[in-house]
Amino acid sequence: VNGPARGGAAAAAARPDARTLLEPIQDELKRVDALYHESLRSESPHVRALVDHAALFSGKRLRPALVLLAGRASGRLTDAHVLIGAVVEMIHTATLLHDDVLDHATTRRDVPCVNALHGNEIPILLGDFIYAEAFALLSRIEDRSAIAELAKTTRRLCTGEIDQNCARGRFDLTIDEYLRIIEDKTAALYASSARLGAHYAGATAAQVAALAEYGRLLGIAFQIVDDCLDLAGDEKSAGKSLGTDLSERKLTLPVIRLIERVDARKAEEVRRLLAADGGDDPRAALRALVDFAPDVASARSTAARYLREAVACLDALPASPARVSLADVAGFVLDRER
Ligand code: FPP
Ligand code: MG
Repeated sequence: VNGPARGGAAAAAARPDARTLLEPIQDELKRVDALYHESLRSESPHVRALVDHAALFSGKRLRPALVLLAGRASGRLTDAHVLIGAVVEMIHTATLLHDDVLDHATTRRDVPCVNALHGNEIPILLGDFIYAEAFALLSRIEDRSAIAELAKTTRRLCTGEIDQNCARGRFDLTIDEYLRIIEDKTAALYASSARLGAHYAGATAAQVAALAEYGRLLGIAFQIVDDCLDLAGDEKSAGKSLGTDLSERKLTLPVIRLIERVDARKAEEVRRLLAADGGDDPRAALRALVDFAPDVASARSTAARYLREAVACLDALPASPARVSLADVAGFVLDRER
């Protein structure tokens, strides 16, 4: 059920590593990193240290890679792509700083969260600092599509987070409501990254739309896999605090499926456990009550379905190494442990 989106163990064995995948955009990704660091330079030694710490959260740089691969696969890369790549990574970093406050998380990418080191005020302000610089950078691009698109998308990120917080403790959350939340909080930035990559490369309207849809579907799958890891992943491999969805009483796809699958009495016990303080290890408490492995498997196969649909969108593009990389990104999203 949980095979990779592009079919079976053979494809998994043949899958290139991350470096091969990023080969078509290697030079531009380096320029993205340089611009990111140069733009966030500060007079304040405090800000400098914090920006350096937050940069450790960057990791996979999936969003800038998406801007660049979408551009390369549908036209010509420009300076605007490098700038937008740095900006989407900044927006992402700002959201993580704020998210770790909301989730009371302690670890991300194997290092302490800023809230764990300095309390809640500093990561909120640092997120705002990074976020302000992102829009200052965008104001340099004459074609205002990027600034308009990313302002709209940031609104959606915040809307998704607000809706998710307001849904805390609601054990009747439907799959449609869950999907709307993750589309806003996660998939919107993926969709914008791919859409803008195509737009600034001079792609046709049909290709821009196809890449935006690819990004949206990829983002939905990414968050479903993230939610499976939060429930069933290994904290060491993930390098971040897990179980926060349970401790924050946020219902995710595997838990919604679990409540639907078990009988009414068990479902009531699960709801009662989720409503109570799950203690230090809410995942262990839930595991002691019920085996949720089938629900994680079911959610992961839903993610695989979204990824197959995402890869199908790439048919709108001519064959190229960048298009191959975009298809391979889907496999990475499903197989990742962090
Ligand atoms: C990760 O969720 C969080 C997001 C994808 C979005 C967070 C957005 C905000 C907090 C709004 C703030 C906005 C700005 C512009 C500063 P998760 O907790 O499921 O992922 P995790 O497991 O990586 O923590
Ligand atoms: Mg979180």
